[in-house]
Amino acid sequence: MHIIAIVNQKGGCGKTTTAINLAASLGHKGHRTLLVDADPQGHASLGLGGRRQDEPGLYEIFALDFPLAETIIPRISQGLDIIPATISLAAVEYLLANMPERERQLSTYLHSVDSIYDYVVIDCPPALGLLSINAIRAAQRVIVPVDMSLFAIDGIERLSETVDLVATKYDLNIELNILPTLVDRRTRLGRKLLLGIWERYQNKVLPVMIHHTVRLKESVCAGQSIVDFAPNSPAASDFHDLADELIMRSHTAPDTTQANISWLLSHVESTDNKPANIVSLHKEHLATENSNAQKVVLSFQNHQQRDIRIAGEFNEWIADKDVQTVTENDIIHKVFYVEPGDYQYRLIVDGKWRNDPTNPRQALSALGIHNSLLHVTGNGTLNQSIGNH
Ligand SMILES: Nc1ncnc2c1ncn2[C@@H]1O[C@H](COP(=O)(O)OP(=O)(O)OP(=O)(O)O)[C@@H](O)[C@H]1O
Ligand SMILES: [Mg+2]
Repeated sequence: MHIIAIVNQKGGCGKTTTAINLAASLGHKGHRTLLVDADPQGHASLGLGGRRQDEPGLYEIFALDFPLAETIIPRISQGLDIIPATISLAAVEYLLANMPERERQLSTYLHSVDSIYDYVVIDCPPALGLLSINAIRAAQRVIVPVDMSLFAIDGIERLSETVDLVATKYDLNIELNILPTLVDRRTRLGRKLLLGIWERYQNKVLPVMIHHTVRLKESVCAGQSIVDFAPNSPAASDFHDLADELIMRSHTAPDTTQANISWLLSHVESTDNKPANIVSLHKEHLATENSNAQKVVLSFQNHQQRDIRIAGEFNEWIADKDVQTVTENDIIHKVFYVEPGDYQYRLIVDGKWRNDPTNPRQALSALGIHNSLLHVTGNGTLNQSIGNH
C-alpha cells in the first residue's frame, strides 16, 4: 500500500482538487484506492457527493475508537472508496494533542487496510497542525500543490523542513514532490513562475502540472471527479498524467540524477497570446530609422563541449529563444539583439541553471533569486569577456 498525502498549509492551492481527481484516476486505472478526507471542511467528501453529516469518519476513528473499515464508503467512483469528514473532525486536533503517540495515530489505523488498497490518498487541511503531521507521518510521498498564480515560496520551505523533521524523527523515507497547479501558460507571469519554481526546486518538481480550467469547478458542483464528469477533457488527462507519474515513481527509487528541464521548456513555450518575438521586433526596427536594437555577443570558452544555452528577460526566459549560437573551436558565441537597457539572465549549462561566471553584475529577481545582469548601452556591439566552462 502506497500512501500519498496532499499537503500545503496555504489555503486554496488545489489540495482537494488534486486529492479527489488523483484518487479517481488511480481507481479508474484499476488500482484499489482509498481517499481519506482529513480536512474538517469535508470538501473531498463534498466534491465526490459523499458528504453526509451523520456518516462516521476520522473523528469517530480517533475519538470513539470506531474500526476504520466501518467508516469507509465503498465505490464512490470506479475503484475508489472514501473515508468522509465532517466538521466534528475539527475537534480531533485537540484530541490528538493529548494522545501519547499523537503523530502516528493515522498511520497505525491505516495499517488495518494495508492489504486491501494499493493506494491511499489523504486530503489535508490548510494548516500544518496535527492532522497534517499525521498524514505526513503515514505517507511515503507528500505532494505539495503550488498555486502558480500566487507562488508562496516561504510556505514550501517550511513544509519541506517539517517533512524532513518527521522523516528524521521516525527514520522514514518520505519523498516530497511539488505539483504546479492552476497553471495558466498563456500569461507571461505564469511561464515565469513555472521557470522560477523549477529553478529553485528542480528534482522536487513533478514533470506534470494541473492547468487552470473551469471544468474542474464544474465537476465539483456535479459531485463528480473530472475523470467521471468529463473523461475526455484536458483536465482529466492532466490527472491521468499525474497518476501515471506517481504509479511509475511508486515502483522506482527516487531519482537522484540531474534534473532534465526539457519537459519544462516544452511546457513553458506558449503558443497563444505570444508577444512579438525579439528577432522580428528587431527586424522591424531595423527597417525604421529610429531602430536602436543592439547586437549582443556573449562568448564563453567551452573546452568540454558542454551544452550552453541562455535565457533571460530578453527572450521570455526560454532557453536560446531568438538567440543564434556560433561555435568557433572551443569558443561558443551567443548572439542576439536587444534594445538598450538592463536584462536579467542565466545560463543553462548541461541542463543546469547557473549564473554567468564571467559576469560579476547580478540583480535580485522578484522571486528572491539572484540572476546575472546584462547592461546594454546604445553605442554599438557589446562584447562580454570570454569565460571558462
Ligand atoms: N486547476 C484548477 N482550475 C480551476 N479552478 C481550480 C483548479 N484547482 C482548484 N480550483 C478551484 O480553486 C478553489 C480551491 O481549490 P481546492 O479546494 O482544491 O484548494 P484547497 O487547497 O483544497 O483549499 P483548502 O486549503 O481550503 O482546503 C476551488 O474552488 C477549486 O474548484
Ligand atoms: Mg481542501
